[in-house]
Amino acid sequence: MTTDQLQSDLLAAIEAAADVQTLEALRVAALGKQGSVTALLKSLGGLTPEERTIQGPRINGLREAVASALAARKAALEAAALNARLAAETQDMTLPVSLPAQGSIHPVSQVMDELAEIFADMGFAVATGPEIEDDWHNFTALNIPEHHPARAMHDTFYVDGLDAEGRKRVLRTHTSPVQIRTMLANKPPIRIIAPGRVYRSDSDATHTPMFHQIEGLVIDKGITLAHLRWTLETFIKAFFEVDDVALRFRPSYFPFTEPSVEVDVGYSSKTNKPAAGADVDKWLEVLGSGMVHPRVIAACGLDPTEWQGFAFGTGVDRLAMLKYGLTDLRAFFDGDLRWLRANGFAALDIPSISAGARP
Ligand code: PHE
Repeated sequence: MTTDQLQSDLLAAIEAAADVQTLEALRVAALGKQGSVTALLKSLGGLTPEERTIQGPRINGLREAVASALAARKAALEAAALNARLAAETQDMTLPVSLPAQGSIHPVSQVMDELAEIFADMGFAVATGPEIEDDWHNFTALNIPEHHPARAMHDTFYVDGLDAEGRKRVLRTHTSPVQIRTMLANKPPIRIIAPGRVYRSDSDATHTPMFHQIEGLVIDKGITLAHLRWTLETFIKAFFEVDDVALRFRPSYFPFTEPSVEVDVGYSSKTNKPAAGADVDKWLEVLGSGMVHPRVIAACGLDPTEWQGFAFGTGVDRLAMLKYGLTDLRAFFDGDLRWLRANGFAALDIPSISAGARP
């Protein structure tokens, strides 16, 4: 067969190839190791120089023509296959997307994040302390000496053994020891909140042996109850997303504050939210607070004639129940995923003041 004949046969076959498999078989038959064009190329070695000057360009031209015809046909077949798929397949854009399983944020964590945001806006830093405390930080430094009846009121869990300083070890019964640790470690002015777990040997529908509190502490010069009142009012308004709120300060007793006040929030049973003025038909006790007792300030090595301040403490779980309408405290700590799915918050929806600390 002449080179020209071979070329026109091959090009016709390539043009007629209906799919890429046929095309590949043609490529192997022509350009593969045993291929017809390859055989011609090999034969060049056995020709005389004169013949080679004539056959060389022809055979190489044949190889190039076949190679480019193969490439062109392959591109055409692939484009046709893609067009056929595009015409045949459709995507239903209305089908619901199946999301991968996602965790969610527990209401307690959510509320702690919201509180951190709200108080950060007022210049408060977040402070932390150990959950296994010693009785000096948890009681004595807070003006609750040994044999003080307030110790009995706290239903304390004791941990076996003494710590390195010979102090009894307890699971902290409140976040107030963080006040002590903060005053010992920092010079005033101090503005901190301390959210965290606390423990008391108590369990029923509204009490769990582990629960969450948030402590607030301000130490500076010339601090009065008015600052406390403003701070609490600002926090309650921001947290419950209300424009105005009625607060009631009731005289109370805590060993570590003097005077001590318990704070009630005016509530409307119509909106189920904190309210002010004529809308108030209920009062809810939300927190304990007061001016830090001079003995507590002195126990932390500060001069109480120079430094004053206020402190407050409240239950995070209770705030979460009030804000998000949750009724059973025990469900908070059951670890039931169905409850968490129904009441949790989207993981990346971090609360912020600019978004009204809303989830
Ligand atoms: N620590 C107190 C409690 O657990 C709350 C509190 C904190 C009261 C700070 C006054 C000031 O009951």
